[in-house]
Amino acid sequence: MDAKDLRSRLSVLLGADCLLTEEAQLEPFLTDHRKLYRGRTPAVALPRTVEQVSRLLAFCNENRVGVVPHGGNTSYCGGATPDESGDQIVLSLRRLNRIRNVDPLNWSAVVEAGCILADVQRAAQSADRFFPLSLGSEGSCQIGGNLSTNAGGTNVVRYGMMRDQVLGLEVVLPNGRVMSTLNTLRKDNTGYDLKSLFVGAEGTLGVITAASLKLYPTIRASATAFAAVPNPQAAVTLLSELRDASGDSVSSFELIPRVGIDLTTKHIPGVQDPLDRPYEWYVLCELTSSRYIDTLAPILEGALESALSRGVVLDGVLAQNERHREAFWKLRETIPEAQRIDGASLKHDICVPIAVLPDFVERASAWVRANVPEGRLVCYGHVGDGNLHFNLNQAPGASQEAFMAREPATKRAIHDLVRDFCGSFSAEHGIGRLKVAELETYAQPEELAMMHAVKQAFDPNGIMNPGKVLRSEPR
Ligand code: MLT
Ligand code: ZN
Repeated sequence: MDAKDLRSRLSVLLGADCLLTEEAQLEPFLTDHRKLYRGRTPAVALPRTVEQVSRLLAFCNENRVGVVPHGGNTSYCGGATPDESGDQIVLSLRRLNRIRNVDPLNWSAVVEAGCILADVQRAAQSADRFFPLSLGSEGSCQIGGNLSTNAGGTNVVRYGMMRDQVLGLEVVLPNGRVMSTLNTLRKDNTGYDLKSLFVGAEGTLGVITAASLKLYPTIRASATAFAAVPNPQAAVTLLSELRDASGDSVSSFELIPRVGIDLTTKHIPGVQDPLDRPYEWYVLCELTSSRYIDTLAPILEGALESALSRGVVLDGVLAQNERHREAFWKLRETIPEAQRIDGASLKHDICVPIAVLPDFVERASAWVRANVPEGRLVCYGHVGDGNLHFNLNQAPGASQEAFMAREPATKRAIHDLVRDFCGSFSAEHGIGRLKVAELETYAQPEELAMMHAVKQAFDPNGIMNPGKVLRSEPR
């Protein structure tokens, strides 16, 4: 079927108002957030109902047309971008954006895939409940993408990742049938946990159209600090001390290097260094409670003072009000944007056991210093989860070409080291198209074989997000 035929059949199937075909309309769907890939597509489907998604997949399955599910397009790995063939259609979930239900007594919400994460947080809030997933892109990323990539973010140390928030899913399978486990049960041991397979599958097994999610008590008290530490080892020590001292109230614990402050204060309007003089490393930590208590700030202050007396902390400041707190978070959350503005970057989204994270940083940094003179390290992230964005940016004045030429060797060295530390080369950004070869390199052969078997079982015609996570043809 040529592109013209395909468009007219899809138009009949979905209705012309649910299909984009003009070049200018297709444009925003052709490149990924980091501009690593540029694909082509004959059409973008914009269904309004689950039934339309089901009809679309049944048609594509029958006619062997590849389907690329698309949410807020914030993937770092090209997971939602069609390939260059021009044969794959894009399926945007953005019109499936209803909050179907918020049930405070059941501590749950049922939301559709196209809901913006921040809207789900607000819906929970208006029922006096809390939805904990929180990311820099929460104002534009969509729940379907959060589920499909098992998103992490800044509250994982306390609440876990997106998978931990899921009670049930509604999924359209590649043959068009709808599999719904949209219950809100806390316990359900009835056979294989199929819904878990779709979380993190990046749209390669089917299309998630809705999810039932856990809600939590509203946050009623918080204390936030921005503190300088001598090194990552001190950050890890401080994390343990704070977890102990606060009765496990730490909800975020982020590591920030000096260069993170240099980049954000340079490129992002309104960002300021919270401290009077520069240090090499910082942590941004937050304690929260669902009780109306005023003890969090004294606990945080006491723990920081004790750490200060032992050299675990060098300096620090507590947020005195919501404006301060927001300023700390703005600094942290705009590091990726500042990195992007500053020039080319190489990203490594790694995780190692928390206790060995300082060793990892030391060894990986030494390798970078010795082997990538055109790069500078921008290593920051969710140290509370052992997850660092061990990124490099083109150094000021360095040639972009020479810097990018270091990419293969750098990736290999960093990811080999991650393997030596029993870690993961993709902690929260997934595989997409970018890391397919890395998965083949670092997954055990048994794991890879089972992944291909699962793919074959759900999607025998290979129509779902072809070429993402796994190569279309196993090697
Ligand atoms: C973050 O935590 O800010 C992101 O996941 C971004 C990144 O890897 O650059
Ligand atoms: Zn992150």
